[in-house]
Amino acid sequence: MPAAASAPAPVSAAVTVRVPAKVNAQLAVGGLRPDGFHDLANVFLAVGLYDEVTAAPADGLRITVSGPDAAHVPADDSNLAARAARALAERRGLRPDVHLHIAKDIPVAGGMAGGSADAAAALLACDTLWGGGTPREELLAICAELGSDVPFNLVGGAALGRGRGELLEPLEVGGTFHWVFAVAEGGLSTPAVYRECDRLRVAAGGGATTADVPDPRPDPALLEALRTGDTAALAAALTAGGSSNDLQAAAVSLRPSLARTLAAGTEAGALAALVSGSGPTCAFLVGDEAAAVAVADAMTASGTCRTARPTTAPAPGAHVVRRG
Ligand code: C5P
Repeated sequence: MPAAASAPAPVSAAVTVRVPAKVNAQLAVGGLRPDGFHDLANVFLAVGLYDEVTAAPADGLRITVSGPDAAHVPADDSNLAARAARALAERRGLRPDVHLHIAKDIPVAGGMAGGSADAAAALLACDTLWGGGTPREELLAICAELGSDVPFNLVGGAALGRGRGELLEPLEVGGTFHWVFAVAEGGLSTPAVYRECDRLRVAAGGGATTADVPDPRPDPALLEALRTGDTAALAAALTAGGSSNDLQAAAVSLRPSLARTLAAGTEAGALAALVSGSGPTCAFLVGDEAAAVAVADAMTASGTCRTARPTTAPAPGAHVVRRG
């Protein structure tokens, strides 16, 4: 590795990247692997709640965060965005001399890949600031090293994630889906939710390792509903067998109040209710924009969540929105 050089003259004073949150339309969880991860069939759908990450030249690496949940986001080297900047700088033989500002709107520790989103955005913002040119494949490889969900945040749209979620195949989506997200008070730890999933499986007598648990498979009916943009068919697939999210029972086990949140959404007229990823955010599929506003209002009034956000999917992946 050559000695780290100063970053090249930046192409602009600052680069801002917008990056979406995600919901898992399906999260089929396989057995616990020897490396501590689980094999997945993970149907990612990017949704229209965004963080923005601005990269600007600086002396050393600095992180600042704004937004209502800023106090809950680490502004130090433990932030995945900082690790993204360092990883890219190292590959390019540069010093990570950059100020990253994260304007946070995605719920924190909510099962919507907010931290992963910031890492993908930081990577693209730094690459652009430092002159661009890192091949897409290399950016995706860095994303995969940073976390299982990070490659999807770069790509956006809809995709099937295999392996631990990092091996992506793009999926066709034939329309716009309307969603409401009910944001909980406080977060849930993703590793804790996976551990609880394993514990529940062992308690049910099924075992928890790859030897005991069947290979996770995408649901063909769910993929077809996405492809044709059919909301009613998607609602049926999301709720077939209880939930398309294998982590839902574990999230509800750790946070029993989520059962009331899910029920409140169904009572308010949602076509399907599920926990988003490892939770505790709950996701409600609705028929149209008016239903989204009505369900969001009802969820806020129900007192079963901190706030409710109507939005649409799919949304574009990380992309530059401002320079200078
Ligand atoms: O990859 P990421 O850092 O987001 O994963 C966080 C944690 O979630 C892992 O350390 C692991 O405990 C759990 N995980 C898992 N199987 C996956 C993805 C994540 O067990 N496919």
